[in-house]
Amino acid sequence: MENEKVRTEVFINSLEKENTPFLDELEKTAKADNVPVIRKEVQSLLKVVLEMKKPKRLLEIGTAVGFSAILMAEYGPKDMEIVTIENYDKRIRRAEKNIALSGYGDRIKLIRGDAAEVLPTLEGSFDLVFMDAAKGQYIRFFPEAKRLLSDGGILISDNCLGGGDILESRFVVERRDRTIHRRMRDYLLAVKNDDSLVSAVLSAGDGITVSVKRG
Ligand SMILES: C[S@@+](CC[C@H](N)C(=O)[O-])C[C@H]1O[C@@H](n2cnc3c(N)ncnc32)[C@H](O)[C@@H]1O
Repeated sequence: MENEKVRTEVFINSLEKENTPFLDELEKTAKADNVPVIRKEVQSLLKVVLEMKKPKRLLEIGTAVGFSAILMAEYGPKDMEIVTIENYDKRIRRAEKNIALSGYGDRIKLIRGDAAEVLPTLEGSFDLVFMDAAKGQYIRFFPEAKRLLSDGGILISDNCLGGGDILESRFVVERRDRTIHRRMRDYLLAVKNDDSLVSAVLSAGDGITVSVKRG
């Protein structure tokens, strides 16, 4: 079963077209430095959603070194504003440099700080919210993510199935991972059972949720 999933993923990835040379180089460098970036399947999903939704404002939680923010600027509408939040100094410096080099400095606004503190300070609404930060915090970010979503807005959260760990009983999961395991299960239940959203949990990549806020 696990082998089947890996083969499917390899096959799907073999169908992918390259991104721009700048993004391909940034992805390669990030991976070489062990900086997490969204997987190919997630990149494709975001491109599809950007094309369907054509968001005017987009919020990302978890910039890392800017790869996904730059990818969304590249494949989203020309007049889209992206606000992205990151709390790890070393990555913030690299993200700022990458965003400047990408030429999208006028569209991407990077906010330094813990998303739990930054989110309540944000005003206005966002047509797309992409959550890609510490998995154990998603349940904490959820009320603010909902508040900030416009009617008909889309919430996507990445890494929700933790490579399949979430399926396991909490007793099989290592003791140190149990809190994240419980919080992620709570998050998935909260997303699926929230009447203000229509949500799907997909097994693509490391597990993704896609929700639309009812109008
Ligand atoms: C998976 S990486 C993001 C990858 C990025 N979206 C990409 O694909 O290029 C998650 C990032 O979220 C940041 N992060 C984790 N918890 C955070 C928090 N509470 N507030 C802000 N950033 C956070 C981490 O430092 C890390 O760089």
